[in-house]
Amino acid sequence: MAQSSLSSETSAHDDDNIQFVQRCADEFQWKDLSEDVVMDIGCGEELNCCKAILMQFPEVKELIAVDQEITTFLTAHIINKVEFCVGDILLRDSLELYEGKMDKVISTDTFHQIKNKEKAFRNVYHMLKPGGEAGFYFCVKACMYTLLTVLSKIPKYGNIFEGPFVPNLYPPEHGEQYYKELLEKIGFKDVRATEEERRVPYDTEEDFEEKFLDELMDNLDILPEDEERFKAEVLELFEKTFGRYEGKRCYVSVHLNLFGVKPMESSDSEI
Ligand SMILES: C[S@@+](CC[C@H](N)C(=O)[O-])C[C@H]1O[C@@H](n2cnc3c(N)ncnc32)[C@H](O)[C@@H]1O
Repeated sequence: MAQSSLSSETSAHDDDNIQFVQRCADEFQWKDLSEDVVMDIGCGEELNCCKAILMQFPEVKELIAVDQEITTFLTAHIINKVEFCVGDILLRDSLELYEGKMDKVISTDTFHQIKNKEKAFRNVYHMLKPGGEAGFYFCVKACMYTLLTVLSKIPKYGNIFEGPFVPNLYPPEHGEQYYKELLEKIGFKDVRATEEERRVPYDTEEDFEEKFLDELMDNLDILPEDEERFKAEVLELFEKTFGRYEGKRCYVSVHLNLFGVKPMESSDSEI
């Protein structure tokens, strides 16, 4: 595997994507992708995952960068070998052109946003050639969400929820075993799933208040006069639930690495 000069276009923010592509390479024994077309679902405007593939596998045959938002591609830079496609993985018709033609499908930091994951995984299965490989990396637990869920169950806070809070977004039972069985039910074989806990420390108390608390407040409808008291209660709850790591508050999340292969003898007719 050769490293290309594309590293200048990537930043520290892309580390997750670089690590994930490395994990795919290890899991599937990728060495040479010169005959492979790779689809990236939920590519985002930075095209982080496509860039990570090009950095580690500059010889890749072609990359299909898919995103449901047309705006993603208005600012994205054209990159050699990357074809842009506005498509929704929940809408099979939107990706009809690619059905059964992909050697690999990968996706980072996107599936946690998709409510009907079974349908999305099924459509990934449809995109793959027989023998094709799929790798997903997405969040299955996030402290912001855990805290919002705890708050939503406290009667006095019952009516303060508005904004993007989606109840039941990360059901606790949807962990590695659940997703492994889901992929197997769809028809994938050699399914592997591993959870990975991440703790990203906040540098200072102010940093935590500015980033975490402000985002939390955006999900809630708190009267201005109640804000200070509410923040104090949330701080106490955060401390009790997540504690500290090396003296610092951290953003705690659990991400899933999920891999599966479409069998050579597969037929799409039954699913
Ligand atoms: C958080 S960004 C991740 C971008 C990139 N994969 C990364 O890791 O940096 C999630 C992207 O997935 C896209 N997305 C969400 N649901 C999607 C769907 N059903 N089909 C296609 N794209 C979707 C969003 O528009 C957004 O650009």
